[in-house]
Amino acid sequence: MDKFKLLDDKLAEARLGGGADRIKSQHQKGKLSARERIDFLLDEGSFVEIGALVTHRSTNFGLDKQVFLGDGVVTGYGTIDGRTVYVFSQDFTVLGGSLAEAHAEKICRIMDLAMKTGAPVIGLNDSGGARIQEGVVSLGGYADIFYKNTMASGVIPQISAIMGPCAGGAVYSPAITDFILMVENTSYMFVTGPNVVKTVTHEEVTSEELGGASTHSTKSGVTHFACANEVECIRTIRAMLSYMPQNCEEQAPVYAYEKGEEKRPKLNTIVPENSNLPYDIRDVIFEVCDEDSFLEVHKNFAENIVVGFARLGGRSIGVVANQPAYLAGVLDIQASTKAARFVRFCDSFNIPLLVFEDVPGFLPGTDQEWNAIITNGAKLLYAFCEATVPRITVITRKAYGGAYDVMNSKHIGADMNFAWPSAEIAVMGAKGAAEIIFKREIASAENPESKWKEKEAEYGELFANPYIAAARGYVDAVIKPEDTREQLIRAFDMLKNKAERIPVKKHGNIPL
Ligand code: HXC
Repeated sequence: MDKFKLLDDKLAEARLGGGADRIKSQHQKGKLSARERIDFLLDEGSFVEIGALVTHRSTNFGLDKQVFLGDGVVTGYGTIDGRTVYVFSQDFTVLGGSLAEAHAEKICRIMDLAMKTGAPVIGLNDSGGARIQEGVVSLGGYADIFYKNTMASGVIPQISAIMGPCAGGAVYSPAITDFILMVENTSYMFVTGPNVVKTVTHEEVTSEELGGASTHSTKSGVTHFACANEVECIRTIRAMLSYMPQNCEEQAPVYAYEKGEEKRPKLNTIVPENSNLPYDIRDVIFEVCDEDSFLEVHKNFAENIVVGFARLGGRSIGVVANQPAYLAGVLDIQASTKAARFVRFCDSFNIPLLVFEDVPGFLPGTDQEWNAIITNGAKLLYAFCEATVPRITVITRKAYGGAYDVMNSKHIGADMNFAWPSAEIAVMGAKGAAEIIFKREIASAENPESKWKEKEAEYGELFANPYIAAARGYVDAVIKPEDTREQLIRAFDMLKNKAERIPVKKHGNIPL
């Protein structure tokens, strides 16, 4: 019996982490403990811990007197909506959640199991970074994790929640994973903190300004979600997983769907008569997709493009849509990289892609050119070209210039391309086109202004419609907006067994 008592005592000690006082101080900061987070995340009672009794082996700088069972990270597996996931949750109450040899080994252990069994890994990060007392061993531990993150990329979904500090090289594990979520006011990520910034660049900046959730969800795009609190963060992780398969060899779960009245007359009136007026593409997405199924990703970053998961007829899809309500839906550097990354995630995990197109072109200007819109725009082009999942485009209005090609055109491998009668498909807008090709005629006219208008109308009449593209077969059908949902459900159903392979290669060379 004593032996059983010893075990019980040890497990109780492990559960206590750095102690009740430290857990209380965690709560006072608005944070949950490492174990509470796991309890919220997983289906009730499903968590099975691995390595609860692991300890560090270091004796330097008094560490021999600070030995905690579990070594500052709780690891194991459980289920979310009945499906297996692996999880690690750093415990800030133990040596600041700092990562060293044993702590890293525990994370690597669950990553290995996740790879062998084909299930997602969720990391709940709350750590002071590399454990300073353990020196290079800590750095090695991080590198082991980075390597495994990279090997797992595209094989199993990897999700990182930042629920406290995440600084220095520690940021690179979340950065390699598929999605990052941050909690407002209690989490931050940066490579070098405010003190170093002040010394090197003389800038004075707070942790929150430098690397808080709002900074990374709007300015840098490092995080895909800024959550109001930890509970919202955990709920978002659960919701995200519902759109994803367990691994790259499986399909996402299919939700029950009964065919009903699929016409959506509201779609007929969303695009304004005047093609220069904005509208919110989300209104189109909400009408077309299954009710309340749209989960927007990267909502506050590069708002000129909208990306997110949704369901159509019960099946998971990834939506990529130009947003005419923001910068007229123009493609720029941030929009291109945001969408490219999302397209590649969906393609890695067999999630079909639905594109809504209303794009006046790429954003002109020195800022864009000098910061490499060429290379960055090419990322989106490359990502679409390479994607082998079912791909469908609906041109709601403008499809101009290079952006027509880039936004999942038939030419780069889209399977079905629809256009609404309001579509305008041309090399450029009628005004600019008339100015260039009728330059001499306009200049020599008695009234150049009215000549320009006349030529603009002429060009517009010829090209500002979907019928030339349809005549060429670049567009498969011109459909009434109200029929879009039904057409898409049918088309994705038709494509469900699509099997396409890219040529055998080691890997491509996406323009990074
Ligand atoms: C060892 C650490 C630690 C660390 C914190 N602690 N960070 N122990 N290694 N990296 C310990 C503290 O000593 C303290 O222990 C306890 O955790 C809580 O820390 P506090 O400072 O009291 O908490 P708080 O005021 O909330 O501040 C949190 C913090 C701060 C901002 C994270 O602790 C901090 O600046 N830590 C150092 C961060 C850092 O420089 N890490 C290295 C980054 S470089 P006691 O026992 O006193 O309560 C890096 C490289 C990775 O990570 C490279 C990968 C390639």
